[in-house]
Amino acid sequence: MPTKLSDKTLAVLGTGKLGSILLRAYLKQGLFAPKRVTATVRHEEKAAALAKGLGVNGTTDNRKAVHGADIVLLAVKPQVVGDVLKEIAPELGKDTLIISVAASVPTAYIEQRAGAKTAVVRAMPNTCSAVGCGMTGICRGAHASAEHLEIAEAMFNAVGRTVVVDEKNMDAVTGLSASGPAFAYIILESLAEAGVKVGLPRDIATLLASQTMKGAASVVLETGDHPALLKDAVTTPAGCTIDGILELEEGKLRVTLIKAVVKATQRAGELLFEK
Ligand SMILES: NC(=O)c1ccc[n+]([C@@H]2O[C@H](COP(=O)([O-])OP(=O)(O)OC[C@H]3O[C@@H](n4cnc5c(N)ncnc54)[C@H](OP(=O)(O)O)[C@@H]3O)[C@@H](O)[C@H]2O)c1
Repeated sequence: MPTKLSDKTLAVLGTGKLGSILLRAYLKQGLFAPKRVTATVRHEEKAAALAKGLGVNGTTDNRKAVHGADIVLLAVKPQVVGDVLKEIAPELGKDTLIISVAASVPTAYIEQRAGAKTAVVRAMPNTCSAVGCGMTGICRGAHASAEHLEIAEAMFNAVGRTVVVDEKNMDAVTGLSASGPAFAYIILESLAEAGVKVGLPRDIATLLASQTMKGAASVVLETGDHPALLKDAVTTPAGCTIDGILELEEGKLRVTLIKAVVKATQRAGELLFEK
């Protein structure tokens, strides 16, 4: 049973890149009514532009935005979260749900500053949410109920897929699926460049590379088959693909990708502590 959100009041604090992607999707899909949404940013002119462009209430006043809000979507940078929570804590209602997308910020950190009994859901979406193809990992804090989790799932299912994980895995989600689009773009760009090297016009090479990656990912998602089995099915004995795979192995593609995710995961645990 989908959670009905359109009669809820939403405050989006920090309507930057990710906050805007999410908010635009909610408004486009009618998930929230614009008149029940207040979006904040740091700069006055950006607040005015949000109000004009999206028909929501735009302001730089976080306390005003949070007053009476059912749901607070916290989308400021991790280093700013502490200050913003301190600012809004007196305005939070006892039933207000905080959904934080800030990398590296634990639910306990938010609960300590917002009020010990506050319901908190931590989420880690990615920018592919902009085209409805996002991937979000979510986990609940100590006081969030199954219904709170359901609300968060509905909000992130609106921009793609959602998976519930243990909080101890949230930095790993950040390193894999939140940083992942950047890794995928580099692979995609390299495949397109390779196409140019072997004589294809750049636009056609980019299309071939993009649709191939999308197709391969779709097969994994739709069949549930192990990627290694699917790779084996493409690889004819003494054919062309095995020659390409040998080059990938010699270039250490696998270990390089693994190390990239490990490093990004480690870094995800550090962000909160930087000012
Ligand atoms: N980008 C991603 O791929 C991604 C993925 C997953 C999670 N996240 C998380 O999402 C959060 C936002 O990232 P982002 O990439 O969207 O950053 P961003 O584009 O820099 O957005 C941050 C926004 O916060 C606003 N802001 C700063 N201080 C504020 C304050 N005191 N009160 C209200 N608003 C304030 C800024 O306002 P101005 O515009 O006026 O400066 C800006 O609009 C981060 O915590 C990040 O970890 C990002």
